[in-house]
Amino acid sequence: MEEDEEKTCTLGFDIYGTLVDPLALAEPLTALVGEQAVQFATLWRSKQLEYAFRRGLMRRYVDFDACTRQALLYTQQVLRCELPESDQDRLLEAYLYLPPFPEVAASLDALKTQGHQLVAFSNGVEASIRALLANADLLPRLEDVISVDDLRTFKPDPEVYAYLARRTDRALGETWLISSNAWDVIGAKAAGLRAAWVKRQPEAVFDPWDIDPDVVVNDLNELVAWFADPKDAG
Ligand code: 2OP
Repeated sequence: MEEDEEKTCTLGFDIYGTLVDPLALAEPLTALVGEQAVQFATLWRSKQLEYAFRRGLMRRYVDFDACTRQALLYTQQVLRCELPESDQDRLLEAYLYLPPFPEVAASLDALKTQGHQLVAFSNGVEASIRALLANADLLPRLEDVISVDDLRTFKPDPEVYAYLARRTDRALGETWLISSNAWDVIGAKAAGLRAAWVKRQPEAVFDPWDIDPDVVVNDLNELVAWFADPKDAG
């Protein structure tokens, strides 16, 4: 193991898609929109992200909960399945109960045992992500919850990655982003952090931007193994 790899690091975990699964909303959606459920959940998620990106660029900030709500309205209109307000409220509530991926809790425990500082780092609103992480039994496993809402902008603005390092009092090069979102990994690397891409879907494609992750893993168990022996497992 190389000397610089022996140090413990700060690991900032993206939440949606990395620790918990937003596409699990297809299940409650099935009762509401039938066979359009998967398409609905996927379009809702991608519009939510697009709205955050656009608002960051335009400097017309609204928080991530508002992006999620507006993306839900858009998705209903595109798929021509307008839901009663009570169902919309239930779906937005379900966003606070997204299921964690199965290996997450044990992997966080193992990474903590390795000595790393673990924090959540998300575009989400702090109160919402705290509730979500508590419901998923992940909150006690994380030392802090860091939301870009403090800066009123969104990932992948370089400011927010610098904020993660600043908040955790670490050098950029000792601060890692752990994310399943390729755009997030590229944002972190471009800002000078280190980054692991969690390639949760075998068919996922990393954007060919000539900015690569430090490590690619299929799940967080593999990340535990990589940090245990970065040279061999990487
Ligand atoms: C996050 O949790 C949106 O997945 C992204 O920051």
